[in-house]
Formats: sequence, C-alpha cells, structure tokens
Amino acid sequence: MKLIIINGPNLNLLGKREPEVYGNTTFEAYFSELQFRFNDVQLEYFQSNIEGEIIGKIQETGFDYDGIILNAAAYTHTSVGIGDAVRAVETPVVEVHISNVAERESFRHASYVSPGAKGVIFGFGLKGYDLAIRSFLPD
Ligand code: DQA
Repeated sequence: MKLIIINGPNLNLLGKREPEVYGNTTFEAYFSELQFRFNDVQLEYFQSNIEGEIIGKIQETGFDYDGIILNAAAYTHTSVGIGDAVRAVETPVVEVHISNVAERESFRHASYVSPGAKGVIFGFGLKGYDLAIRSFLPD
C-alpha cells in the first residue's frame, strides 16, 4: 500500500500558525507518528505553497499510488486546476481539512476538490490524516 499526503499553502507553518485553529503540533512530528503507526504502509509526504507544484505531484503520483490524501488548504476554495487534476488521475483522492471548514467563513464552504474526491474528512484536527489513511486500508 503506497499513499501520499499532499499539503498545500501555509501548512508548512503548522504548530506556529493560528494554533487555536490548527493546533500546536508540527506536521513533521505528526507525520513521524503516522509512519510509526502505519509501519506497513509506504507513506510519503509532500508540501508546497505553489499551486503548479501541487498539480505536478497529483499528476506524478496519480497513476500508480494507491491513494492520495490531499489538503489543498486555501487552494481548495480557489483552484480549478487542482480540482481538474484530481479528476484527471486514476488514484483515489481523499480530501482532508484540519479545521471544521463548515463552521468558518463562507468562502471556505466551497471546494473545487470535493466533486472529484472519493471522500472528505474535516474538523478532526490532525487526526483527519489518520482517518484518511484508514479509509484506504481493508475493513
Ligand atoms: C484548511 C482550511 C482552509 O480553509 C485553509 O485555507 C487552510 C487549512 C484546513 O486544513 O483546515 O489553509 O485546509
């Protein structure tokens, strides 16, 4: 089982960025925990603040990985290109948001990713990534 977590803009600042919304843990620390917890899953992590790099990574992994876990962050609400990339690839994409986007500003309620995603997980903090990994494992 080969999965990749792709995080979008400003998620490199997790741990420092608005901790009341996103928590105090860095993604690197959480990712190490995930690797330990799911040690029989080949788990990769990619983060970029650049829309085209995120599209490139979806294309690169989207035909031979078993799953993509995508938190496109602010691009979720703006990027037709990322939405199209999700639809263009064969690998199923699970959309994750750390915060409960439904209870936040109305511009966060729309997602270009959701229509092409296998499923969406939001509002559970970093645990959403754990749940997304589990969604790819056998029952
Ligand atoms: C986010 C929610 C987005 O609205 C926001 O722009 C982010 C993070 C989340 O994980 O809760 O950067 O995707």
